[in-house]
Amino acid sequence: MTLVRNPTEGVAVKDELLIELRSRLSPETVLREHEPLGKRTTIRIGGTADYYVEPSSDEELAAILGLCGLRGVKFVVLGRGSNLLIRDGGFRGIVICLAHPHFSQIEVTGYRVACGAGAKLKQVCMDARKANLTGLEFLEGIPGTVGGAMRMNAGAMGGWMFDVVESMRYMDRSGSIMEQSAGEFVVEYRSCPVLKENIALSAVLKGHPSSREVVDKRMKTFSEKRWESQPAAPSAGCIFKNPALIPAGKLIDELGLKGTRVGGAMVSMEHGNFIVNEKEATAADVLGLIQVIREKALSSRGIHLETEVEIIGEDLKESGL
Ligand code: EPU
Repeated sequence: MTLVRNPTEGVAVKDELLIELRSRLSPETVLREHEPLGKRTTIRIGGTADYYVEPSSDEELAAILGLCGLRGVKFVVLGRGSNLLIRDGGFRGIVICLAHPHFSQIEVTGYRVACGAGAKLKQVCMDARKANLTGLEFLEGIPGTVGGAMRMNAGAMGGWMFDVVESMRYMDRSGSIMEQSAGEFVVEYRSCPVLKENIALSAVLKGHPSSREVVDKRMKTFSEKRWESQPAAPSAGCIFKNPALIPAGKLIDELGLKGTRVGGAMVSMEHGNFIVNEKEATAADVLGLIQVIREKALSSRGIHLETEVEIIGEDLKESGL
């Protein structure tokens, strides 16, 4: 027996969701349908989101999460899209971005820097510099937000995000808000498990009083190191976590895979752990290249490479677009 579905059924459900969403948000809140996501990622790849929303208060965020729970709608929180690969079919559900000023303010008081989860790390770094605080310079080169960097426990130049977090606030899926000091929750290399289920709202970071010269010198050193070892072309940062035995970039380099291509995606010539979007690459190209690298690392060296980038959304075929 063939089940004949009403072709307009899905559309009607979607329209209902849009109406419900709109009714829970203030008129000024950004809410869009069919939002292209590629431009919201640093690798410039990805299909469209069913809905895209920038809530303007904690209450609105809680209301969106409540609706997702009630209707069984998937959601994802997008930072600066720097460690993210969105498949070509896009994301069926709601993409939440904490770009509204309510979630992206930065305030320096003494040695503390209070920042919203949507604040850009580069801006945090600049504001700390203005206040002559050292210790946060390594954030300058990470193209992320405070929330994203906490979720990933992002790191660079020997520093980790949670080295500088004094406390954080987050929301669970029921809309309740919690605040915890560092030390009260587990952090791991490139992961903060509590933020896999919960959404970071804000953090208090700590720096140390210093002089502008010291801060500037550290920033310059880090920036130079980054530019000489990492590609400028669009990428999602490091693709793989470093395995215990050898940094992934060194391994990929030793395997002779630099310059390997699948479609428009290429293993960077500058750093083996970066895949660059060289010629209008698709997510399928990048995923194909990831597979090539993983197979070679396993067959030649017995090393399982685990992706660091988060991969979300669906393939074109699944999406039916
Ligand atoms: N190396 C090679 N060939 C390469 C790349 C690296 O031989 O193509 C060697 C380097 O010479 C060095 C070692 O591998 O001896 C490690 O390289 P690097 O100093 O570049 O550090 P990494 O471990 O590859 C980590 C982070 C980066 C961060 C840099 C700088 C991970 C997965 N990556 O890279 O973070 O910017 O340190 O501190 O932990 C990211 O997470 O997205 C990211 C870019």
